[in-house]
Amino acid sequence: MSRNYNFSAGPAMISEAVLTQARDQMLNWNDTGMSVMEMSHRGKEYLSIATQAETDLRDLLNIPEHYKVLFLQGGASTQFSAIPMNLLDGNETADYINTGTWSKKAIKEAQRYCDVNVVASSENSDFLSIPPIESWNLNEDAAYMHYTPNETISGVEFHWIPEVGDVPLVADMSSTLLSRPLNVEKYGLIYAGAQKNIGPAGLTLVIVREDLIGKALKNTPAMMDYAIQSKAGSMYNTPPTYSWFLAGLVFKWLKKNGGLEAMAEINERKSVKLYNAIDTSDFYKNSVNINCRSWMNVPFTLGNSDLDSDFLSQAAAQGLVTLKGHSSVGGMRASIYNAMPEAGIDALISFMVEFEAKYG
Ligand SMILES: Cc1ncc(COP(=O)(O)O)c(C=O)c1O
Repeated sequence: MSRNYNFSAGPAMISEAVLTQARDQMLNWNDTGMSVMEMSHRGKEYLSIATQAETDLRDLLNIPEHYKVLFLQGGASTQFSAIPMNLLDGNETADYINTGTWSKKAIKEAQRYCDVNVVASSENSDFLSIPPIESWNLNEDAAYMHYTPNETISGVEFHWIPEVGDVPLVADMSSTLLSRPLNVEKYGLIYAGAQKNIGPAGLTLVIVREDLIGKALKNTPAMMDYAIQSKAGSMYNTPPTYSWFLAGLVFKWLKKNGGLEAMAEINERKSVKLYNAIDTSDFYKNSVNINCRSWMNVPFTLGNSDLDSDFLSQAAAQGLVTLKGHSSVGGMRASIYNAMPEAGIDALISFMVEFEAKYG
């Protein structure tokens, strides 16, 4: 059976090595006579899987002891509410920067709980750039400062970490976590839906500094209270056991393949190749400011948008699928997370050259 190169923004490709291992262990994990899906989350077998996954994630990201790692549910979108509920700590304001659709959603949700100070916004320039930090209207009394290091839809990525003094920095890393090494200590809290670089949908990672836990608003649901989840080992209720297991296989795969330094090198190379192919053609275009182009999501348009559906159908016929851009921006988007092989980028570029020669 041949597999496609799937450029989906998420759920996205998972490495074939991981899927093959999951398949081989599907009916009988480690001679337990059962699938991981059928195990009690309280049993010693599953607890060993869960603990190993956390250990491997801590190794990969070099997560210090004084950070908790939570394996939660509800997607990154649930964290849009959980973050203010847990971190406001009696404060009435939080800082947010608006760099795209996902920032906006986070802001909208936070406004239910506090005054959101939007420190800067790139909305007037179609979210194609990141306002320089010198222009941010930071509030040193804010409960926290939230940003979206990679805007998945517009393909805009911070290649630097904002310096915000003593205010805890909070980052929605849904589409960039594990794509490169990270200095976790720069952050108060990092969160990510799993369905891009981590594993299957259904799992949400939260990495949070210990001193920020335990101050949730009185009406915070138990499921969203970091103190309760942390005390329960992320098992206040039945966790997404299989997604957690699969994420653990992804962590092992990353370690085996050189860890995050190796991923960074490959990811940068893959994205540079694709941006070069776009920039050197007169037919394709990426409008994102060159300093903040994403390594993970590469949107581009064709010289003539009437050709979009031909491009998509002919690409699909060559096994290059899910290239349609998000409806809010149109055009194409190639999401090229860790599990997209370099050969997938080469195949896409060859197809783009061929298509341009035919129609350009
Ligand atoms: C940057 C970012 N934040 C949040 C989300 C929403 O994630 P979820 O579907 O896990 O709630 C996405 C989904 O694509 C995303 O890309």
